Amino acid sequence: MPSAPIRSVTVFGAGTIGASWAALFAARGLDVRLYDRSAEALASGCKKAIRILTSWEDVYAPAAIERIHLCPDPDSALANAAFVQESVLEDYAVKRAAHETIERFAPADALVASSTSGLLASRMQESWTHPERFLIAHPFNPVHLIPLVELVGGPRTAAESLRKAHELYTALGKVPVTLNQEVPGHLANRLATAVWREAIDLVARGVASLEDVDKALCAGPGLRWAFMGQHLTYHLAGGPGGYRNFFEHLGPALEVYMADLARWDRVPEAAKREVLEQMDAHLAGRGVAELERWRDAKLVELAKHLYAHEPAELTTHEHVV
Ligand SMILES: NC(=O)c1ccc[n+]([C@@H]2O[C@H](COP(=O)([O-])OP(=O)(O)OC[C@H]3O[C@@H](n4cnc5c(N)ncnc54)[C@H](O)[C@@H]3O)[C@@H](O)[C@H]2O)c1
Repeated sequence: MPSAPIRSVTVFGAGTIGASWAALFAARGLDVRLYDRSAEALASGCKKAIRILTSWEDVYAPAAIERIHLCPDPDSALANAAFVQESVLEDYAVKRAAHETIERFAPADALVASSTSGLLASRMQESWTHPERFLIAHPFNPVHLIPLVELVGGPRTAAESLRKAHELYTALGKVPVTLNQEVPGHLANRLATAVWREAIDLVARGVASLEDVDKALCAGPGLRWAFMGQHLTYHLAGGPGGYRNFFEHLGPALEVYMADLARWDRVPEAAKREVLEQMDAHLAGRGVAELERWRDAKLVELAKHLYAHEPAELTTHEHVV
């Protein structure tokens, strides 16, 4: 028998990530029950969600804003919940307390996804009575603008829960990827960390300035990375012979670079000092808020181009999972 359509979601934790999830879900037509154990955080999370919705598109913002319901207690937030997006502080003890509350008040078959960036599903699942419906759904900040969500189950997560989550996030306009096993950093942050280590090392070795290292990424491979990953990029780099040809003919040259790449697993203090100094000089006083506005405007333009996330399309009302 097919499950009932999911029309509402409980966002549990209304900080940076919870507020953005709330805005995204409301924009996509879901009723949102927003809860935080701190009344102050709940109020400011709601304000942030409204700010996001208003900046997105004034025409449909009022309807989306009305779909966000502030819940002062976990009972009203979770009773009848079919889907919970947990977004509380990144700490095993805090997650455990939140998960116990979720299990106490939500129906036993509610799907529960944790936004955790770095905690393990297997460890979090230890405290669950019904661990089969629990998984990680790790978004990227800003959640409402970056489509990726990484789905990771623990050993006790049902395959059906991962499938349902995949279907649901897809219907909501996200781009889900599913890991077959848990690893620290999931997929995207591991890839980003590999690049980050080398980006620090190149600056610290004096190979190029911080500005030029960043520029080399953005004006070069970064342009393709928005729509084509490293494997497909190198398949095309192999010409008519594709990836096989690339491994055979270009692979050995890259192995020479590999032997010269940074290998440390703690950022050297001197390297950290150097990149921080160069970053201060590069920014020349420009603040984080100004840069965030610039980044978000660029992301909106890119998403429109690559994912056709026009406001008019943000109106899915039913998601059958
Ligand atoms: N900030 C990021 O860039 C980012 C990106 C992706 C994923 N995440 C993940 O999202 C989660 C939330 O991160 P954040 O940056 O939004 O944190 P945050 O500190 O901004 O917000 C966390 C919120 O959780 C609330 N909270 C704590 N315990 C609670 C409980 N028992 N019940 C209800 N509410 C509770 C706090 O009051 C706070 O408002 C973390 O697991 C983090 O790893 C963060």
